[in-house]
Amino acid sequence: MENIITIDGPSGVGKGTVSLKIAEYLRWHILDSGALYRVLALVAKRNQVDMDDEIKLIELATKLDIQFIPLVNKLQIIYAGQDIAVEIRDETYGKMASKIAVKPEIRKALLARQRAFYTSPGLVADGRDMGTIVFPKAKYKFFLIASCEERALRRYKQLINIGIYVKLSELAVEIASRDQRDSTRTTAPLIAASDALTIDTTKLSIEEVVERILKNISKRA
Ligand code: DC
Repeated sequence: MENIITIDGPSGVGKGTVSLKIAEYLRWHILDSGALYRVLALVAKRNQVDMDDEIKLIELATKLDIQFIPLVNKLQIIYAGQDIAVEIRDETYGKMASKIAVKPEIRKALLARQRAFYTSPGLVADGRDMGTIVFPKAKYKFFLIASCEERALRRYKQLINIGIYVKLSELAVEIASRDQRDSTRTTAPLIAASDALTIDTTKLSIEEVVERILKNISKRA
């Protein structure tokens, strides 16, 4: 698949921002797969569906109607006619999403939904298993990493920017436990695809990461 870029990696590494910039630059579509899991958590909460009620969660997952609209430096996430991009960023939904994401049947229910985002002219997909499971045939695969401290700080700044106030120390603990769960689950764990290029972004700015990815793509195009 010539026109898919997958960008995977752990929480807070900056995948979302980098993917948005690349999608804007190329004028391609964008899939924030983490948002699908987060929205599912939000909808389950709104409908008072128990996190262990797999049948109901699968039913909700197959019906999820989400649209991503990239604006300048911002991604609108529309669910049921409302932009819920800020609401789902709350770590409560991050944690619920990570717990939901452990269940293989729920992941299966979201698979076709994620693949349907792939339309012309191309797609930038970010998540945990974009390069391994959802788009294994993607031509361009990247895996971003950064130190735990740096990732907690990045997520902290991102949340403050959108008006969500958290304690950095608590956020660091939550992110670490989410990463542990995401990396050790049996189905589609957080792992770099064997043909992905890993970039340590700890000491890089967003612009530098974007530049490296775009350079790598144009070298191989
Ligand atoms: O990228 P994020 O922080 O918005 O993702 C929230 C959670 O969703 C993450 O902790 C694990 C799950 N997730 C997943 O299992 N697979 C994906 N492709 C994306 C997210």
